Order: sequence, then structure tokens, then C-alpha cells
Amino acid sequence: MASVIRELRKIGAQVRVVMTPFSTQFVGKLTFETLSGNEVFTDWDKDPLAHINLARWANVFLIAPCTVNTLSKIALGIGDNLLTTTVLAYKGPLLLAPAANTVMYKNPAVQENIEKLRDRGVSIIEPEWGILACEEEGEGKLASEKRLIDWVLWALHPKSLEGKKVLITCGATREYIDPVRFISNESSGEMGFSLAKVARWLGAEVRVIAGFTTAEEPPEVHIRRVRTSEDMLRETLKEFEDSDIVIMNAAVADYRPKSTYGSKIKKREHLTLELEKTSDVLEELGKRKKGQMLVGFALESEQLVENAREKLRRKNLDMIVANPVDVMGAGHHRGYIITEEAVHEFEFDSKMESAYNIMERVLELYSKR
Ligand code: CTP
Repeated sequence: MASVIRELRKIGAQVRVVMTPFSTQFVGKLTFETLSGNEVFTDWDKDPLAHINLARWANVFLIAPCTVNTLSKIALGIGDNLLTTTVLAYKGPLLLAPAANTVMYKNPAVQENIEKLRDRGVSIIEPEWGILACEEEGEGKLASEKRLIDWVLWALHPKSLEGKKVLITCGATREYIDPVRFISNESSGEMGFSLAKVARWLGAEVRVIAGFTTAEEPPEVHIRRVRTSEDMLRETLKEFEDSDIVIMNAAVADYRPKSTYGSKIKKREHLTLELEKTSDVLEELGKRKKGQMLVGFALESEQLVENAREKLRRKNLDMIVANPVDVMGAGHHRGYIITEEAVHEFEFDSKMESAYNIMERVLELYSKR
């Protein structure tokens, strides 16, 4: 939990910690006092209305790790310590991250309580598989810090994309020359993964189709992996009809070897590869578009806006994000967001900031429909 508090403070959040009497046997109050920069609450000694004041103050309430005992007490509306009483007084988004021995976690009484809480709108951050405190291996390990932070951010965002299905493609395709060699590009997948995070935080049901990537995968998002441009075309078409917003960020190779060698090519003096054009996935989606909002990317060495505008029309897009070539694989992001009506220039130090900006523009355009 220490680094969760540290990370949340880094992004500007204020953090207050409530500890159950049981938890103080494992971690000292001082640790959390130092990390949060605030007094840690364990009882009503200093404030008889601590439960009300804490409940009114918080925008999001995360209990991690949440024992099955605390979880079950919350499900039954029991307030027998400061933590459970504060939950009773709290009306905002509640996130419970259970951690327990597998048998205890799977206990039917606990599972019933989890269902009860879910039905009431409480978010249960599923535990992971791993070595548990009891030294057994199984399901019951507290969710990773990365997932806990992601859930807090999810809870803090307005759900402007609630009920919408957002399909995002990203990463590089590989076009195989032989079983171990291929044609590909520098795409890291970071932009697409950042867009997926933001879309999830805004309440969308997000599906990602990713080629090869080096960026860290976004937590809690369904990612389907593909290898070649043909796989990308097939998988994207499968999802297209059932999507509301489609963002095609994948760096699909434009050419592939006309034939792929079945075994590793032996070294020789000269080797000539004949290449053929791959299908343009985005153009195919543009042809089939019914109600979907279609967003493309354009990577250009020159005449950025003009060339991107031409792609916007040719591929029947609603929006295109035009980037100069130096952004591929880089941390920063700059370029233009182009629609039929407007051109917005942008420059950000990170792909994450840029993803926010793009999703804001996507939302703006989508809400005008
Ligand atoms: N794209 C695609 N299928 C391809 C090539 C590109 O779906 N075979 C998509 C990309 O995901 C991107 C958009 O089309 O959203 C533009 O990609 P870009 O590489 O900039 O342009 P191309 O259409 O390939 O044209 P060119 O390389 O000539 O600039």
C-alpha cells in the first residue's frame, strides 16, 4: 500500500488513512502518517465524529487489503470499528480489494457477500493468483499496486462513455519473411494503451486488439493479441459492427512478402524479396461504417495536415490524429487533431496527456451526434 499512497500523492491526490485495530498489528501508524502527510485514524479518540467527517471528505474510498471479515461486515451493514462505521456513513464510490487464503475467499458465505456488494454498486478489485500470506499458492493475493491505482483513477472520473463500446487497435504488425524474420516498425503501443486506459476510466467497455508492443499493458482491459496485418484485419472486422467508437492506432505494415518461406532462409550472396500491399484495415472499416465513429492516425514526414486530411476523406473517418514521424516510439506526442470542421494543434510531454486530449475531442464530437 505504501507505493499506492506515494503514487496517488504524486498525481496530486490528498490521502487519509483509516486503519482497523487488527491492521495496526502488522504496520505502524507512523508509516502511513509519513506517506500520506496526514494523521492516521484508528478510533474516535481525537474526533467523536471522525466517521462522518472522513466520509464527507473523501471522493473515493479504497479498502486494501480488505479482509473477508471486513468485506462481510460491510455487506451486512455492521459498523464495529472506525473503518466499517465510516463505510456506513459514506455515499461515494467504494472499492474493496480483498486478500485472503483461497479457501476463505471462495467460501460460499464470502462469495454471496461479494455478489451482494456488487449488486449495490461496490467495486470488487479481484485478488490475483500467487503465493499467499499462509504460504500456499492460489487465488487470494491482493491486487497489484498498478491495478489499485487504476481503479482509484477509474472511480474519480465522470462516466461520460458509460454504455459505449470502444474498440482500440495498437502496436506493430509483423509480416513474416520466414518463421523467424519479419518486416515491422517502431510502434510501442503506448498511445493505444493510454487511450484504452482513459476510455475505461470514462466508463466505456473497452476492447483492444494489439499487435507487437513494448509499452506496459493497461490493467483491467481486454487485450487480444494479433501478429500480422491479415490477423489485424480479421479480428478488427469481427468487433467492428458491435462497436460505437473505433480508434485505429495500430501501425499496420503496408507491405508483406509475397510469399513466406516455410523454413529459415539459409545465408546466400543475394536475396530478393518481392513485396505486396497489405489490406488497409481502416479503409475497409470506413467502407463498412454504419453508425460507428471512426478515428484514424496518420504518420507523415511532410505536409502533415494536408496529407492527413486526404486520409480522413479517403478512409471515410470522423477524426484523424496527424503526427510527425518522430513521435513513433517516443515519450512525447505532438501533431494535429483534424475533423471536417476543425484543426487543433497539440503538444504534450507524454502520450498519457495526449490520450486525455484526444479522448476529450472524441467525446466532444460524439456528443454532437
Ligand atoms: N492503416 C491501416 N491499415 C494499413 C495501413 C494503415 O488500417 N495497412 C491505418 C493506420 O492504423 C492509421 C491510418 O491507417 O490509423 C493511417 O496510417 P498511415 O501509416 O499514416 O498511412 P497509410 O494509409 O499507410 O498511407 P502512407 O503510408 O502512404 O502515408
